[in-house]
Amino acid sequence: MKLWGGRFAAESSEVFERFSGSLHFDKKLVDVDIRGSQAFAAALERVGILTAAEREKLVAAFEELRAEATTPAFYEGATDEDVHTLVIRQLKAKVGGLADKIHTGRSRNEQVSLDVRLWLREAIDETRAQLAALMASLLELAKKYPDAVIPGYTHLRRAQAVLWPHYILAYFEMFARDYERMTEARARVNVMPLGSGALAGSGFPHDREAIARDLGFAAITRNSMDVSADRDFALDYLHAANLIMLHLSRLSEDWILYSSEEFGWMELGDGVTSGSSLMPQKKNPDSLELIRGKSGRVFGDYSSLFVTVKGLPLTYNRDLQEDKEPLFDAVYQTVGSLEMAAVVASTVVLKPAIPEQAAEESWVVATDLAEALARAGLPFHQSHVLVGKLVLESTRDGKRPADWTAEELAAFDPRLTPEFAALLKPREGMKTREIRGGTGPASVAAALAEAEARLRLL
Ligand code: ARG
Repeated sequence: MKLWGGRFAAESSEVFERFSGSLHFDKKLVDVDIRGSQAFAAALERVGILTAAEREKLVAAFEELRAEATTPAFYEGATDEDVHTLVIRQLKAKVGGLADKIHTGRSRNEQVSLDVRLWLREAIDETRAQLAALMASLLELAKKYPDAVIPGYTHLRRAQAVLWPHYILAYFEMFARDYERMTEARARVNVMPLGSGALAGSGFPHDREAIARDLGFAAITRNSMDVSADRDFALDYLHAANLIMLHLSRLSEDWILYSSEEFGWMELGDGVTSGSSLMPQKKNPDSLELIRGKSGRVFGDYSSLFVTVKGLPLTYNRDLQEDKEPLFDAVYQTVGSLEMAAVVASTVVLKPAIPEQAAEESWVVATDLAEALARAGLPFHQSHVLVGKLVLESTRDGKRPADWTAEELAAFDPRLTPEFAALLKPREGMKTREIRGGTGPASVAAALAEAEARLRLL
């Protein structure tokens, strides 16, 4: 059965059917396709194409199909071009000739837009739920070590000391923006396209707002040609998903480094690491490496659809059938990576003495000292030079900040009066950064409380 056989005298080539068929992937849309058709049956009744009894019969038959579509038998031996064709064939098997009315004035171009929107709306909600779960897991991890001091890095060189929760909250902010982006994408997905026809608008006077209400959409699309041509809503999701994967990839990279022997700060749980088939001692961060690896794949999904749409003449072109596989893949990989990251976070054990010692051994307090001198009246550039010289001398002598006594400091330069000696401990120097958004302990505690309140509102 084809939805378009009449005009053709000869059969389709078997190769063309195999090449162009999409059922093997678009069957994912079967449930939303049927729900869309149930709403469309109600719309057809409103414009007098179906009687109430016919609509009832179709809706009931569709309901049975929804249940059957969850079993493999529904697809057995199916050679239909796509999921829309399959559903109508199955409907015909149930209700006979009445099924011929369901596609009145409807195009698969609008149907595919409807189905993907319905499916993606649910996928966005799943993505947001996993994001919120990861954010909760990160806050738990932040609160496990509220006072731990770690070196913050620039250029992967120890730069300034920060509190562990401050570091974790940096990722919380990234995922909070990702959540926002997903919500914004959802608003653009949540618009109802039916009534657009193939490209010119339906020839039947549908109450499009009523269809939107029946399917829980917030609005209706405004231009029928746009509907047939547009995949922006899928690209919006892919963009937001790309940023999630980007952030996950950076988090993974951090933790792969921090849990390595070279850093030695943290331990990942046995449950999320693997061994080597040859080297008995190995404990590898495969979960994080796979998240990092899958980010490349999801970026590819975005590029793939982006480039497919570029240059297509308005309106629908069959190229657009290539939208689904990258979109489905991106949803699956993004949701899976978020879930994995949350589990990894719940297994992280920090060894706080090690990063604190790393901070103490290096000159992460140099900026604290230079700024304190500037607050005491020495112009900042001169403070910078003075502390730079102190670091240079210390590096030559292998002296750590804490090795300097107040007397030695004063002997080095009389402007380094005894009160500056306290700042040589990262934990003390950090206290000068009590500013909103900074790593001062009170600021971080407030930010943590605020993050918890924000998460509760998601
Ligand atoms: N399987 C097609 C797709 O996903 C459905 C739309 C077909 N429309 C058409 N004009 N051939 O794009």
